[in-house]
Amino acid sequence: MRENSLTSAAAVTVSSATLVLATRNKGKMRELSILLAPFGVEAASLDDFPFIGEIEENGASFAENALIKARAVCAATGLPATADDSGLEVEALGGAPGVYSARYAAVDGKAAPDAANVEKLLRELEGVRGAGRKARFRCVMAACAPGGESITAEGSWEGFIAEQAAGSNGFGYDPIFLDPASGLTAAQMTPEEKNRRSHRAAAASALLRLWPAFWGRGGPGGRNGPPDARAFSRCLRREQMKDSVRPRQAGRRL
Ligand code: IMP
Repeated sequence: MRENSLTSAAAVTVSSATLVLATRNKGKMRELSILLAPFGVEAASLDDFPFIGEIEENGASFAENALIKARAVCAATGLPATADDSGLEVEALGGAPGVYSARYAAVDGKAAPDAANVEKLLRELEGVRGAGRKARFRCVMAACAPGGESITAEGSWEGFIAEQAAGSNGFGYDPIFLDPASGLTAAQMTPEEKNRRSHRAAAASALLRLWPAFWGRGGPGGRNGPPDARAFSRCLRREQMKDSVRPRQAGRRL
């Protein structure tokens, strides 16, 4: 058990296997906890650390924003943290709304309701047909260790913007994001179908491929003992060396 004045103010008991997921979104929390379970990780969320306020996402890229969130939560709790940042890029709009996806239709710079964002995007694409409606969801997941080491991994999902909204599952732009393989919008898919294709699932599995090295070989408390900054650095250096002699994995960045 590791404690300091900040972690002792947490609503959970933290241990050397605790990872803070930098989110208050219960859906994301559930998905990520399941994904991390095989690694012996105890997932805590921002709700478990009420003293952490809003974190300003002022980065210019998904990776910057994911790192901003992971680093801020890691610094505030003294625990390893992971965060994701995601959004939609539309070909005909030069990659917009991108990092502004949540705030696309906002007038005050804050998040706008999903329906307003969807309506604005459909308006912007009026008269655009075929390849111009190509779009992709992107997600970057970042993890940060108390020693300052960080890793990022990316996932994307290629598709098209539908002419009209369809389906009632999911959130955000799901009702207008058309998956070419199934012919369904993301909002017409069950959560399981979406999870098999989504940018977030792809980013999570890319991050998980790096995870044993980041967390300490053999899982938390494994051969290397509880994760600490030096163990993270050693493992990361090993991974970086391997990377220099093998083709880069898509989306892999350290
Ligand atoms: P964040 O990663 O929670 O900051 O999400 C940014 C915004 O991108 C969301 O508010 C949505 O508008 C959009 N977005 C990200 N991922 C998805 C998705 O899986 N479906 C629909 N919209 C998404």
